[in-house]
Amino acid sequence: MSVVLNVSNVTKLFGSFAAVDGMNMQMKEGGVYLLVGPNGCGKTTLVNCISGIYTPNGGNIYYRTADISGEPMFKIAQRGLVRTFQIAAPFLRLTTLENMLVAIPDNAGENIALSLFRPTWADSEVKAVRRASELLRVLGLRHVWNMPANTLSGGELKLLEIGRALMCGAETILLDEPVGSIDPQLCHQIFNHVLRLRDELGITFLVIEHRLEVAAQYADHVFAMDRGKLLMEGTAEEVFEDPRVITAYLGE
Ligand SMILES: Nc1ncnc2c1ncn2[C@@H]1O[C@H](COP(=O)(O)OP(=O)(O)OP(=O)(O)O)[C@@H](O)[C@H]1O
Ligand SMILES: [Mg+2]
Repeated sequence: MSVVLNVSNVTKLFGSFAAVDGMNMQMKEGGVYLLVGPNGCGKTTLVNCISGIYTPNGGNIYYRTADISGEPMFKIAQRGLVRTFQIAAPFLRLTTLENMLVAIPDNAGENIALSLFRPTWADSEVKAVRRASELLRVLGLRHVWNMPANTLSGGELKLLEIGRALMCGAETILLDEPVGSIDPQLCHQIFNHVLRLRDELGITFLVIEHRLEVAAQYADHVFAMDRGKLLMEGTAEEVFEDPRVITAYLGE
């Protein structure tokens, strides 16, 4: 399988402090990757460099064949590499389906959402509604398609956020602590759908998650960071049994 994301020797400085310090990482298409490491080791800063929120001070980031280091966020998103919070928060009074349709860029989706109330639909509208409906099936949100977003559970809202990224054409999704405040059962629910999106649509994921006991079992590959660098990578088992990783977590 081809490499979709290649982070090569990336550094990000805050003043003279290197929050990311020569980080290397490669992700292949259709994989679920987990990024772990102690608080403050640079995970969020790295994801901010990848998604274009920060410009790295050194190194290169390649998405597929393009060097995207320093590109603006919207351009990186247009390439299909999307961080979920870049998509505007759901409109809580709109239904699940309407939220999927208004996520389409260039306002085209807004017209399509309105078209739900029109007797005849254009081809593009039929296509968008079909795509939304298919994604809602894979995300397990079909039963709430006509419910206002403010009646969805925390887990369902997270899945809707992923669905909205997919409506925008996302092929690689960066999730920074997707399940922070929700209970472990919902965490399992979200990861199960992440695996379904990988298997049915070939979507690639990079997930930062502190709940290792839940996340580890869903990851194809784990990157462990420490002090801005890649400390170790491998299967969840290899990484979490490695003495260096254990020391990084527990302190010396
Ligand atoms: N905008 C900023 N200005 C200055 N220092 C920053 C900034 N953002 C992050 N840092 C510092 O860079 C380091 C890495 O922070 P980062 O948020 O990337 O860590 P993290 O691995 O995501 O941590 P956590 O697990 O707590 O989310 C920390 O020491 C942090 O204090
Ligand atoms: Mg963080």
